[in-house]
Amino acid sequence: MSHPSTIKKCIFPAAGYGTRFLPATKAMPKEMLPVVDKPLIQYGVEEAMAAGMTDIGIITGRGKRAVADHFDISYELEHQISGTPKEDLLKDIRRVIDECTFSYTRQIEMLGLGHAILTAQTLVGEQPFGVILADDLCIDDNDGVMSQLLRIYVKYRCSVVAIEEVDPNEVDKYGVIDGKEIEAGVFKVDGMVEKPAVDDAPSHLAIIGRYILTPEIFDILRRTPPGKNGELQITDALQVQARENMVLACRFDGRRFDCGSVDGFVEATNFFYDRRRAAAGEVRP
Ligand code: G1P
Repeated sequence: MSHPSTIKKCIFPAAGYGTRFLPATKAMPKEMLPVVDKPLIQYGVEEAMAAGMTDIGIITGRGKRAVADHFDISYELEHQISGTPKEDLLKDIRRVIDECTFSYTRQIEMLGLGHAILTAQTLVGEQPFGVILADDLCIDDNDGVMSQLLRIYVKYRCSVVAIEEVDPNEVDKYGVIDGKEIEAGVFKVDGMVEKPAVDDAPSHLAIIGRYILTPEIFDILRRTPPGKNGELQITDALQVQARENMVLACRFDGRRFDCGSVDGFVEATNFFYDRRRAAAGEVRP
C-alpha cells in the first residue's frame, strides 16, 4: 500500500561493526548479510519505499562501501545478463534504484544510536523522518511496520516508535516504554528506559528498530548526556520529547526477526526460505 508523500526521508544507521557475525563481517558490512538472497538493508529500504519514503539516507562508517555499491547500477553485470533468464534476479533491486535516491554520511566515531541519528541531521534538515535499523527485519503481509507508524504520525504529528511485547528476560536488550493505551495498539509514552534490568523495567513493551522522529529531536539529542554504556541514546532523547511534548508507541502487526543475533538471523532465513518454497508450490523436505 502506498501513502501520500507525507514523509520522504528515511535514515538507516549502518555504521556498526557487526561483531556478533565475525568472521563473516570482517571485510563485509553486516547490513549486506543476505537473508536467502537479499541483503538485510534492502528489506529495510523496500519497507521504507512501501511507506512512500524514497529519500534514503545511510549513515555509514569504515568498510561499508559494498552498501553504496549495492544501491548503484552495475553496468558490467547488467550487460552480462541482459536478455538471459537471470535478468529477472535484478528486478527488485533495479526498482529500488529507480525509485529511490541515496545519500550517505559517515559516522566517524561509534558513540551510540543517538549520535548516529544526530549525524544524519545534515541529510535530514528540518523535516520529520523515518529511521530503520536493518537488523530488525520486519514483515507483515498487509502493511509494513513503517507504514503503520506513518499512519499514526499522520493522525497525531509527533514522534512514533514501534514496540513489541517481549519475554521479561529479554527486556535488558531493548529500550522499554512505560505508557497508556489511547487507542487499539497505540500508547502514549510516559517514560522510557534503555536496556533496564528486568526488575527495573516499567513494562515488557520493547522498542523495535523503527522510528518516526520530528526534527526537534536533534536539539534534544544535542543536550542529552551520554547514557547506557556511555553512549548517546535515542531512547533518552525520546524520553525528554515525551515529557516536553508527546511521543507515541505503536504495537505493530506483523513479525520481527532479530537479525542482529545469529539465532534470529537463522530463524529469518528459514522463514523466508519456506515462504519462497511454498510460493513456488514446493514444500520443504
Ligand atoms: C537499539 C536501541 C534500543 C532498541 C533496539 C531495537 O539497541 O538503543 O532502544 O530497543 O535498538 O533493536 P541496539 O540493538 O542497537 O543495542
